[in-house]
Amino acid sequence: MMSQMNKIKLPKRIRNHVNPLADRTEIKFGGFTDNRPIMIDIGAYRGEFSMQLVEKFSDSHNFIVTEIRKPYANYLRELFVDNHNVAVFDGDSAKNISGLLKKSIENGTLVEYIFINFPDPWFKEKHKKRRVLNSQFLSDLYSIVPNSDTKIIFQTDQKPLFDETVELIENDGQWDIEYFDEPLWNIQSYWEKMKLSEGDSVNRMILSKK
Ligand SMILES: C[S@@+](CC[C@H](N)C(=O)[O-])C[C@H]1O[C@@H](n2cnc3c(N)ncnc32)[C@H](O)[C@@H]1O
Repeated sequence: MMSQMNKIKLPKRIRNHVNPLADRTEIKFGGFTDNRPIMIDIGAYRGEFSMQLVEKFSDSHNFIVTEIRKPYANYLRELFVDNHNVAVFDGDSAKNISGLLKKSIENGTLVEYIFINFPDPWFKEKHKKRRVLNSQFLSDLYSIVPNSDTKIIFQTDQKPLFDETVELIENDGQWDIEYFDEPLWNIQSYWEKMKLSEGDSVNRMILSKK
């Protein structure tokens, strides 16, 4: 599949950032045809991380891959066109987390891992509400996730973003936090590789429902 990535063309000009609050796409995913556990990669960019998950867990899992920037989402659709256990969505995944997962959970499917890898940090005070892991996202997730079997993996090189997210979660009070050092299964995202090569360190945590 790696070689497939080089064959798919991306448009030349793609905006660096999209204001998620301006995206009104409403996602309603009815779920997969079988109820294998789901892994979801939020903000997948060009799918480097998702692709490694799919390669490792294709026999046991289904996958949801999301990307707000439509050219990348279209690229991902093409990348995973032959993988019938991969569903790709554009739109704001934070606003749509219920629409993405609720139906599957209602049908008894385990959403096993929710990956939020190197999300856009949105540093300015007035932009913080654009962050993927925000208070609305947490409360939407809390209302659909049945128990601690669902793990939310949050990884970033941005220490202030990490610390503020920890604070948000602690104030929310409904999630256990476990910190960890090495990427799960040694699978690194594109951003992780780039940031490590620049000498940055990565902050990682797993959240699960209390
Ligand atoms: C810094 S990049 C990290 C990409 C990838 N996760 C990685 O670790 O290599 C953040 C990605 O998230 C996407 N994104 C930002 N906000 C999003 C949202 N609300 N819903 C879905 N994708 C989003 C961006 O377009 C971008 O591709």
